[in-house]
Amino acid sequence: MNSPSSARSTLFFRIENVHDVSDARRKGLLLALDVGFATADATKIAVVISELGRNIVSYARSGTITVLTGRDDGTRRYIKIIADDRGPGIKDLRRVLDGGYTTSNGLGLGVSGSQKLMDEFAVRTGENEGTTITAVKWLR
Ligand SMILES: Nc1ncnc2c1ncn2[C@@H]1O[C@H](COP(=O)(O)OP(=O)(O)OP(=O)(O)O)[C@@H](O)[C@H]1O
Ligand SMILES: [Mg+2]
Repeated sequence: MNSPSSARSTLFFRIENVHDVSDARRKGLLLALDVGFATADATKIAVVISELGRNIVSYARSGTITVLTGRDDGTRRYIKIIADDRGPGIKDLRRVLDGGYTTSNGLGLGVSGSQKLMDEFAVRTGENEGTTITAVKWLR
């Protein structure tokens, strides 16, 4: 990895099983710490990578997670997580974002909880078009 203050880096993970998820989680945590996030915020970023990764494995079978850092205007630093799959799509996005809704035997808190942990959160999903979730956290 480059020196901590150098602007950009990108991590790309193919997600097919729980080992891929924990690898992405661990490397994402290290990247967040390297960018300068405090342990508490870096841990939140790791949790989001883990939850979105688990969903890819559970509901879409496979997909990708990209974790990248940058600066807007060369000043404020951020970390962005992009979870992408070509699975069945999220059928009832509103209820999923409200939280407590699951189609498996989960708690139904992965997506809604992830939204609360991040500063920006966008979901693009369509039946049989897959799902792309983009989440950003700004360095304070
Ligand atoms: N990538 C995805 N593709 C298709 N459906 C998804 C995807 N991610 C989430 N879903 C749907 O949204 C629901 C809610 O997801 P969420 O992660 O919030 O909870 P969960 O996975 O059911 O339980 P947990 O709290 O253990 O994560 C899932 O049950 C599933 O139906
Ligand atoms: Mg989940």
